[in-house]
Order: sequence, then C-alpha cells, then structure tokens
Amino acid sequence: MSIHIAAAKGDIAESILLPGDPLRAKFIAENWFEEPVRFNEIRNMFGYTGRYRGARVSVMGTGMGMPSLSIYVNELLREYGVRRLVRVGTCGGLTEKVKVRDVVLGMSASTDSAVNKVRFAGMDYAPTASFHLLSAAYEAAKTAGLSAHVGPIVSSDSFYTEDPDQWKLWARFGVLAVEMESAELYTLAAKFGAEALAILTVSDHLVSGEATPAAERETRFKAMVELGIASVLS
Ligand code: HPA
Repeated sequence: MSIHIAAAKGDIAESILLPGDPLRAKFIAENWFEEPVRFNEIRNMFGYTGRYRGARVSVMGTGMGMPSLSIYVNELLREYGVRRLVRVGTCGGLTEKVKVRDVVLGMSASTDSAVNKVRFAGMDYAPTASFHLLSAAYEAAKTAGLSAHVGPIVSSDSFYTEDPDQWKLWARFGVLAVEMESAELYTLAAKFGAEALAILTVSDHLVSGEATPAAERETRFKAMVELGIASVLS
C-alpha cells in the first residue's frame, strides 16, 4: 500500500501500460489480459495486473498532466519495483508531416513545465525515451503496417494556452506533437534506472484543426495498445 495506490508489494508487474484515462486501463485489462485482477481503485484510478500470452503485465491510469502522472509513477517506481513503463495516449499534431490518426513514438520530451527547472536547480535536463522500448515499438508498428513517426514531442502544462500560437515555436524546432505527461515519465524512469516510452496517436491537429471522430479513436486506440504490449514485453 502506498499513499495513492492500494496494492500490496508484488501485486504490480515489472511491465506496465499507462493510459491517461482509468477507464481505458479497465478496457485494456478486460480485452487483452488473461485473468486481470484489479489492484487499485483509490480515486477511481483503476489499475490491473494480468497476463498476456503468459507474460505478467499491468495497466493503470495516470490522470491528465504531469503532476498527476508523477504521483502514480513515483509510487510505481519507488514502492512496487516497476521497470518498464509505456504510456499509451493521444497527442496534438504540430507539423504537416504528422497526420491525424498517425502514431508518434516520443524519442524525447521537451516541456514548458517548471518541474525539471525546479528539480535540476535551473539547469536543463533532456527527458529521453528508452531506446530498447522505442525500437521494439517501431518494429511492431512496421510489422502491423502502421505509419509511426519517431521524434521529439513536447509535454505541456496547459491544454488551453494563453497564446494560441505558442505551439508554432516548438514546431519550428522540429517537435512533432504536443501532449501533457511524457517529460515527467521519462525523467522519473531515468531517475530510478527504469525504461519508459510514450506511444501516442494523433487525435487532433494544430495546423489543420482536424480531429479524429470518436468511433475511429476506438480502432486507433486498439492498434496503439498492441504496439504498447509488444514494446513493454519486449
Ligand atoms: N494539447 C495538449 N495535449 C493534447 C492535445 C493537445 O492539443 N491533444 C491530445 N493531447
């Protein structure tokens, strides 16, 4: 039992998938895992452990944004011995190269958050994905015939930014997509000598204003979960 997770030591696998939405965690456990057992329901932030083709695997929601993710991921790393963490989420496309529905594998995660400025006493840290998890996800995407972009993303503290054109600066520096969690995920994984990756589908686009219809998000989400499982169990 940790402060925000009701599990006993040993209840959580070393490999975990991390959607933002706890109901997505439930959906993943019920549709992909054999014999899923729920290990958390504090704040309805559902977490489950089961097996996938015999391998032990967990899934848990993180909530939206870095402060929420940080609480859960800290406890997963500190208290439960988690070693491989793959975020499965959505992002906003920042460049025309990346289309709505495409998959983005976040190689690095810049941020407009002060979290690492505070942590590193004003110096800049470069939150980076695990190459092992990244290459496994990329190979799985190629095998599945999915178009997967590999490159930098940005984790923002604001969904509704004061300056609606702020994203253009990141885009000029080659950043592919915006989301709200991965910089903290990558930093914490590094701190604990663990591995992390963000697999994202482009749900909306800041250049074209296009968004994926809800029904299609479901199919896209399923493809992303398959990549996440292939990567986290690689
Ligand atoms: N901004 C921030 N996070 C997001 C977005 C966005 O446009 N789309 C999906 N996650």
